[in-house]
Amino acid sequence: MIIAVDGPAASGKGTIARALARHYHVPHLDTGLLYRAVALTVMRLELDPSIEADAVAACGFDEDLLADAALRDDATGQIASIVSAHPLVRAALLQRQKRFAHQPGGAVLDGRDIGTVIAPDADAKLFIRATPTIRAQRRHAELRARGDDTSYDQVLADIRSRDDRDSSRATAPLVPAIDAAQLDTSFLSIEAAVAKAIALVEARL
Ligand code: C5P
Repeated sequence: MIIAVDGPAASGKGTIARALARHYHVPHLDTGLLYRAVALTVMRLELDPSIEADAVAACGFDEDLLADAALRDDATGQIASIVSAHPLVRAALLQRQKRFAHQPGGAVLDGRDIGTVIAPDADAKLFIRATPTIRAQRRHAELRARGDDTSYDQVLADIRSRDDRDSSRATAPLVPAIDAAQLDTSFLSIEAAVAKAIALVEARL
């Protein structure tokens, strides 16, 4: 069983994907972490994220980076959205994600292109939404809890620019798969959003 969970930043897709993985006892992959690891490598090697060859050179990142706290920084997310627009970066990370999705026993993956590119054959596809202001409030609270004092206005501006970049790129843009069930978490508690997600998956199995 493959479950694809896509959506924009801070929509709740990560929380929902982790809860689904626990519920169905299958492994989970946050695919954003792969692009974030490429971004962090680019930053640490002082490469240029807008140059495709520089970003590709960072695709062989050190696996230990996947546990690095700096992956979650807002700045890393911005650079991730720049490197992820390069077709050769997406190609370099494709097989790893496809293998994870198609492992025996199934998997839950969350990202931007799981239902469209990584696992178009997924058994259930969810597209998670929330308004930009609500997503910015969530991300702002999350950053504050980590001691990051980025202002709310900055977080909202970052979310909007990442949305624009992720939705408008030519390769694997952020768009719902035609057969995805859509879930708006704007006015739902985490518990209510997870319960709805499970009900949507059940309806598709
Ligand atoms: O999900 P997260 O916010 O961690 O992703 C960081 C960035 O990585 C996104 O803004 C997006 O540009 C990119 N990404 C992607 N495809 C995915 C997952 C993430 O392009 N499947």
